[in-house]
Amino acid sequence: MAAVRAAAVALLSVAVLCGAGLRRSQAIGVNWGTQLSHPLPASTVVRLLRDNGFDKVKLFDAEDGILGALRGSGIQVMVGIPNDMLADLAAGGKAAEDWVAKNVSGHVRDGVDIRYVAVGNEPFLETFNGTYLKTTFPAMQNIQAALVKAGLADKVKVTVPLNADVYQSPTGKPSDGDFRADIHGLMLTIVQFLASTGAPFVANVYPFISLYADPNFPLDYAFFQGSSSPVVDGGVTYQNTFDANHDTLVAALRRNGFGNVSVVVGEVGWPTDGDASANLDYARRFNQGFLTHIASGQGTPLRPGPVDAYLFSLIDEDRKSIQPGNFERHWGIFNYDGTPKYALSLAGGNGSTLKPARGVRYLEKRWCVLKPSADLADQKVGDSVSYACGLADCTALGYKTSCGGLDAKGNVSYAFNSYYQTMDQDARACDFKGLATTTSVDPTAGTCRFIVEIDVGGAAAISSARGVAGGVASVLAALVLMSSMLL
Ligand SMILES: *[C@@H]1O[C@H](CO)[C@@H](O)[C@H](O)[C@H]1NC(C)=O
Ligand SMILES: *[C@@H]1O[C@H](CO)[C@@H](O)[C@H](O)[C@H]1NC(C)=O
Ligand SMILES: *[C@@H]1O[C@H](CO)[C@@H](O)[C@H](O)[C@H]1NC(C)=O
Ligand SMILES: *[C@@H]1O[C@H](CO)[C@@H](O)[C@H](O)[C@H]1NC(C)=O
Ligand SMILES: *[C@@H]1O[C@H](CO)[C@@H](O)[C@H](O)[C@H]1NC(C)=O
Repeated sequence: MAAVRAAAVALLSVAVLCGAGLRRSQAIGVNWGTQLSHPLPASTVVRLLRDNGFDKVKLFDAEDGILGALRGSGIQVMVGIPNDMLADLAAGGKAAEDWVAKNVSGHVRDGVDIRYVAVGNEPFLETFNGTYLKTTFPAMQNIQAALVKAGLADKVKVTVPLNADVYQSPTGKPSDGDFRADIHGLMLTIVQFLASTGAPFVANVYPFISLYADPNFPLDYAFFQGSSSPVVDGGVTYQNTFDANHDTLVAALRRNGFGNVSVVVGEVGWPTDGDASANLDYARRFNQGFLTHIASGQGTPLRPGPVDAYLFSLIDEDRKSIQPGNFERHWGIFNYDGTPKYALSLAGGNGSTLKPARGVRYLEKRWCVLKPSADLADQKVGDSVSYACGLADCTALGYKTSCGGLDAKGNVSYAFNSYYQTMDQDARACDFKGLATTTSVDPTAGTCRFIVEIDVGGAAAISSARGVAGGVASVLAALVLMSSMLL
């Protein structure tokens, strides 16, 4: 088994290197989020990473099971600290020392290749209203001191992944980039810290959000095949928003005397569902364009050379908050079960494409649907959909989404099945006051996929079904039933 895997990895590397005649100038990383009702086993995911040639992974916290599975994998790790821990870690050195002892030192000793600690996640986002402005930097200092004390500071660097809204250009030209005025001083303090420890500036860059926020955003400027609306900046012409955004940061660093701080792209990607601009075609165009762009090794106009980046993200997460939008649960390059969503060559160009997770176990091929005889005008239907979508994921339903073409009954069935699968196909979860029935005929139609969940041993459902924002779910349910109510 191990030999087979080693051979597969070796073959893959050869394929990657020969693929399109492109030199693999820089390793590519990926974000591994874990907000799923039914996560694949950590060992399955680590094998998926290796099979596909990822050599870096970014985690949002320090789960023991995941770090354990990465032991000896050869994959470099950025371990995250959630924002809600920042206040404690800022308050005193002891908390930081405990955190490092428990979540870093032991794992490093066991052979987990931890390279970075990411203190907080986009803590200065404007939507956080300044909640983490006072705690982020002290927490970074305390974690740094704890790493020094543990003798790990040379190997493990402290940084903070920041949303691209911490820098901007008043003119739109990258060369005029600077840090956001309300946090300018704080940013310089942090950048000074990064410069003195040799840690990178980690920035999350999202052309999709630019498009989502502004329907007039020029679509072709998001991709990497030239643009009808390039940005001319002195002698440089920017053909894509990634380069322009990246170089706005580089210019901000230079302007403030830190032109030598390295930049890591902490998150970059495109979602596939939950919004009119989130679909397989755009996601493939963006991600493949990006990967081919960085595989060329040309870099950006202000930083020629390799680009260090982590794709966002590995696998769809059906428990993510949809407060920013329904697309939040659909960023994966893989579906919930580790199947690739579309052909993507990590090496760029025409190299070998994504391989699926191996050895995945599914529940039975059984779905839950609305009984054909049910009456849509029945009040129980609306209540049942609200209930189902409150506890399961209905974000594939909506205007121009993968299931946007369903009829009214299809909508209800989709909601019922989503709940039934989330509840591990428990018979009681396909009743809905007598409105529902199970079927062994796959109701999948066109782009709308009715899933069969993976088998995680029955433990996942009920506990993880909590915590979905009820308000948002009922809005969704209302949408699902909109036209049926009007009948
Ligand atoms: C890390 O260490 C601290 C101890 O300071 C612990 O409370 C925390 O839950 C650990 N695990 C994670 C995932 O952060
Ligand atoms: C930020 O402030 C707005 C407006 O006052 C509020 O609606 C929102 O809930 C706040 N967000 C957080 C994270 O505190
Ligand atoms: C970057 O520049 C700063 C300020 O001049 C200096 O303190 C630091 O040592 C430099 N770091 C590297 C990695 O060259
Ligand atoms: C990929 O293959 C197509 C068709 O064979 C070719 O036109 C294209 O130039 C190739 N792309 C790269 C980057 O090699
Ligand atoms: C099904 O639900 C979607 C949104 O969730 C809605 O746009 C559509 O109108 C619904 N279709 C019918 C026929 O009710």
